[in-house]
Amino acid sequence: MKRIFFLFLLLAHVASAQEISIIPKPASVQTKSGQYTISSHTTLVAKDKEDRKAAEFLNAYLQEVYGFQLDIDKKEKKDYIRLSTRKQAQAAKNDAYTLNVTPQGVTIEGDTYAGTFYGLQSLIQLLPVEKSASLKIPAVTIQDAPRFAYRGMHLDVGRHMFPVSFLKKYIDYLALHKMNYFHWHLTEDQGWRLEIKKYPELTSVGGFRDGTIIGRYPGTGNTNQRYGGFYTQEEAKEIVKYAADRHITVIPEIELPGHSSAALTAYPWLGCPGTGPYKVEQTWGIFDDVFCAGKDSTFTFLENVLDEVMAIFPSKYIHIGGDESPKANWKTCPLCQKRIKDEGLHDEHELQSYFIQRIEKYINSKGRTIIGWDEILEGGLAPNAVVMSWRGEAGGIEAAKQNHYVIMTPGTHVYFDHSQSQREDSVTIGGFTSIEKAYSYEPIPKELTPEQAKYVLGAQANVWTEYMSNPAKVEYQIFPRMSALSEVLWTAPEKKSWPDFEKRLMTQFKRYDLWGANYSKAYYDIMASVLPAPGNEGVTLKLDGKKDIGQLRYTIKGKQAAQEYTQPLQLKESAQVTGLYYKNNQLIDSLSLKVSVNKATGKAITLKEQPSEYFPGNGAFTLVDGIVNEKGGRDQQSIGYSGSDLEATIDLGTAQQISSVTVHALNAGGTYVYPPKAVEVYGSADGKNFKPLGTTDKVSSVEGSKAILKVAMSPATTRFVRVAVKNTQTVPAGKQGEGEKAWLFLDEIQVN
Ligand code: ACM
Ligand code: ZN
Repeated sequence: MKRIFFLFLLLAHVASAQEISIIPKPASVQTKSGQYTISSHTTLVAKDKEDRKAAEFLNAYLQEVYGFQLDIDKKEKKDYIRLSTRKQAQAAKNDAYTLNVTPQGVTIEGDTYAGTFYGLQSLIQLLPVEKSASLKIPAVTIQDAPRFAYRGMHLDVGRHMFPVSFLKKYIDYLALHKMNYFHWHLTEDQGWRLEIKKYPELTSVGGFRDGTIIGRYPGTGNTNQRYGGFYTQEEAKEIVKYAADRHITVIPEIELPGHSSAALTAYPWLGCPGTGPYKVEQTWGIFDDVFCAGKDSTFTFLENVLDEVMAIFPSKYIHIGGDESPKANWKTCPLCQKRIKDEGLHDEHELQSYFIQRIEKYINSKGRTIIGWDEILEGGLAPNAVVMSWRGEAGGIEAAKQNHYVIMTPGTHVYFDHSQSQREDSVTIGGFTSIEKAYSYEPIPKELTPEQAKYVLGAQANVWTEYMSNPAKVEYQIFPRMSALSEVLWTAPEKKSWPDFEKRLMTQFKRYDLWGANYSKAYYDIMASVLPAPGNEGVTLKLDGKKDIGQLRYTIKGKQAAQEYTQPLQLKESAQVTGLYYKNNQLIDSLSLKVSVNKATGKAITLKEQPSEYFPGNGAFTLVDGIVNEKGGRDQQSIGYSGSDLEATIDLGTAQQISSVTVHALNAGGTYVYPPKAVEVYGSADGKNFKPLGTTDKVSSVEGSKAILKVAMSPATTRFVRVAVKNTQTVPAGKQGEGEKAWLFLDEIQVN
């Protein structure tokens, strides 16, 4: 019965030619009249082995999505899709292609084999997004070429690992988006995932942990279940070949000197004498157990590991990590200290630089190039290193100015472990990076001259998997943001357009459905932004919905029944606002936001020192926007200071009686984030002469990753309130990262 019904549907549904809706947007699209129909009479003509691989990709896609395949032949046919590569232009290497569809057939001609493959990806996006027996494609001529040479996606398999079948799917997703680098993060504190034949315990011991924290760090418990596994060298080679057939290079990452607890657990002699015992970590964060820089045996070990890695991965680039490597063990290690002295180094930062440079020299001697996270700038950059800028763009800018190649992966725009919804239900690492934000990314910073800009190879999204324990969650985190990123990387800036992308995104959602991919529908979310209000009276709350496809209403709890939203709301009192988003009179989304108005809310505020460029939030206004960050997590609702204090001065506008100041901070020791050591409050009538009103050095309450400090005072009348928030400065003894600079994160200051 079911089958007959399905057949009926197939016959009834004669697909209409699709509107052209290709992501990433091609350089030039000329539509023609007429169409071509792919049918069982169509032959895939591919003249050589490489183009045949592209033809096989198309066949696999047709089989998977539409349930049939085409014949592949070397000879010309009457009814054809012809793939060919202009080998004489191979030297140009810009991977351009021309795709021409006429009623007689389809020709795809690439400047390179990769170009031909990209042309094929555009053809795939001309296919109907309904499953159909008849594949009509519109007549068109497309000429196209990529903007950036490096178009990457990263995947962390250390925190959680995924089957080889999913890695292949992930690689297919890259291919379908014309991306060409897969950065495979293979080693972590929580697991070493690549078989190394010379050191079998890296995987037999380092590949497994005895449990995993439950929930968001610091967690609500532990699974107490053994978790782990690894990829054999044969599997890794299979992945490399699978990717290469899709013109994708796999860049392996072997983390050093930090994030190496798993390796140290397998071979404790890799650590500094007197440290340990080690374990494969069960929680997330940054750990002190790093490779000892004083022992030559560490370097011999790493060289042996890298020999095997380079034999598996032909990539020119080998990623050696370099991020988040605490110096605590090195500071007390006699061997590391001797190394510092013998090499004439100044401190442990220069020792890290020595470590990276020594590894670089080895990798260079094998004809390869290292990539490192931007911390490798500290203490002096290795001579030939490529820098991957993740803590914002500052590291990338600095490296490009030093004539080093750069790959941009800033946390602000392309960390796909961040939430993409302002009210994400599932646990994520925090943050908020909407698809709009990802789409808005421009990899060439304004700070660079055109000459320096040439050092920016491209960009990449990072997918850290602390909170992605299965393939469906990975898909949910990458889609649809990966489609936005593909356009950032491929399409010339003058061709990019958010409204145009939005239209094509509707078709892309249908493609995800065809692929069976799980994806976030946060695009349809109502978005709320809180902005300064005129005259510093309360705050302005702006709601945004996709107005062309729906209607936006709002309520204010206890005050305002549902009514159409026509303009930003001016809130002078505390309010719980709910935005309601309707499509065809059906509620499809709602968003509730609590604005807590106190004497400081929306008032003019200045900061003595600006926050870290990595965590700027929405500037000083963040602290008086009336939004308390309930969940914790470093996002746009908080601002961060590394090792230094925060001092804010708030102008209440008029002299007012105040009796308390409450400071909302974050508490996440695993990533060096600690509550303030103390809060001091001062008052002034003129904004010049301040006198002390009160102080506290006690945390009033800690809940999960949130800490609150409240200064209660005898009532005082003041116009200006100065709040000095003291950073604990260094990570306390006995904690992960002891002695490192501590982070201070604040999301709100309330005055009552
Ligand atoms: C990183 O996100 N630690 C590179
Ligand atoms: Zn040491």
